Amino acid sequence: MSKAVILTGLRANGEFHLGNYLGAIRPIIELQHNHAGQYKVNMFIPDLHSFTTPIDHGTLYQQTVNNLKMFVAAGLDIGDPDTYVYRQSYIPAHSELTWILSCFAYYGELARMTQFKEKARELTSNESDEKNVAGTSAGLFIYPVLMAADILLYGAQYVPVGEDQRQHLELTRDIAIRMNNRFGNLFVVPHEWAKQLEFTKLDKGIRIRSLRNPEKKMSKSIDDPAGTIMLSDSPEEAAKKVKGATTDGVGSIHFDWEKQPGVTNLLQMLSLLSGQSQTVVNKAWEGRAAYSDLKSTVSEVVKNFIEEIQAKLNQVDEKSLMSKLQADETKMNQIAEQTLSNVQKSIGLRP
Ligand code: ADP
Ligand code: TRP
Repeated sequence: MSKAVILTGLRANGEFHLGNYLGAIRPIIELQHNHAGQYKVNMFIPDLHSFTTPIDHGTLYQQTVNNLKMFVAAGLDIGDPDTYVYRQSYIPAHSELTWILSCFAYYGELARMTQFKEKARELTSNESDEKNVAGTSAGLFIYPVLMAADILLYGAQYVPVGEDQRQHLELTRDIAIRMNNRFGNLFVVPHEWAKQLEFTKLDKGIRIRSLRNPEKKMSKSIDDPAGTIMLSDSPEEAAKKVKGATTDGVGSIHFDWEKQPGVTNLLQMLSLLSGQSQTVVNKAWEGRAAYSDLKSTVSEVVKNFIEEIQAKLNQVDEKSLMSKLQADETKMNQIAEQTLSNVQKSIGLRP
C-alpha cells in the first residue's frame, strides 16, 4: 500500500513575523521531521488563495519564492524524498477541480463560513453583513472550495491546520462524502477534526502577542510595527522592540495571561526560543521584580534567533530549491491529472 498523505498549505501573504514562525512554520517543520519516512508530506504554496483579498500583485511571485526560502531556512528538509513542495497555480487541475466541486457545494454552506464573514467585515466594515458581502470578491466566497480541491486531488488524509481552518476541512469532507455517495468512491475522505488533532498535535494554541498591545496577537494585518517582530528586522531592531515591550504595574513576574499578558508573552517567547520548557522558565523568573532583567534576557535570545535565521536564509540555495519545485510540480501534475480525469469520467464529462 502506498504511504498516506499529509498535506498542508503554506500561506504567502506578505512577510513573516515571529508569531507566524513560532505558531505555524516551526510546527509544520516538526511535523515533517516526525513523519517523513512513514508518510508522504505535501507542502504547497496556495498562491491562488493569496489574492482572494486585495494584495500588491507586483510582489506576489517573489513573495511565494521568499516564503518558501524561509521555510527551508527554518529547517524544512527539501532533500527528503517523501516531501513535495509545489505552487498551486502551477498545477491547473486545482482550478479545474474547484469548478467541478463548486457545483456540488451549496451556496448556504459557503455563506456560513466564519472566515468569509469575518474577512468580508474587515474589508468593508459596513453596518450589515449583507452589504459587506456585496463588495467582497467571489474568490473569497469560493476560497474553501479551492481548498477542498487542494486536499482531494492528492487523497490527503491528514491536513494539519489551525482551528480557524476547521470549518473548511469539514466542508471538504462533506463535499467528498456527498460526491462519493453519488458517483462511487471518487475521493479519499480526510480524517475528521478530532483525529487530525490527535495526529498533528497542532492544537497547542501557541499565540504570540503583540509587544505593544499584549491583549492582541502579533499580526502583520494590523499596523503595529513596534509590537511586531518581523523576521526581516535587523537583530538590533528586534532587540529594541523587546526592550520597549509593554508590561504592567504589578511589580513582580508571574505567568498569567489574564493579569500580566505582556510579561507572560515574554516568558512564552523565552521558552519557545530557548528550548527550555515553560515550567523551567517560569520557575526561574517567578516572583522576581526586575522586569528589565527579563526584557534584557529575552531581547538577547530574540536577537540571536533573528541573526541565526537570517544567516540561514542567506545560505538557502535558491537554484536547488527552484529545481526541486519544478521536479515536484511535474510529479504533482501527474497525480492531480489522474484524480481530475477520474472525476471527469464519473460526472460524465469524459467517456
Ligand atoms: P497575520 O495575522 O499576521 O496576518 P496569518 O493570518 O497570515 O497571520 O497567519 C499565518 C499563520 O501564522 C497561521 O497559521 C496563524 O495561525 C499563524 N499565526 C499568525 N499570527 C500568529 C501569532 N501571533 N502567534 C502564533 N501564530 C500565529
Ligand atoms: N487556508 C489555509 C490557511 O489559511 C491555507 C490552505 C489553502 C490550506 N489550501 C489548503 C491548508 C489546503 C491546508 C490544506 O492557512
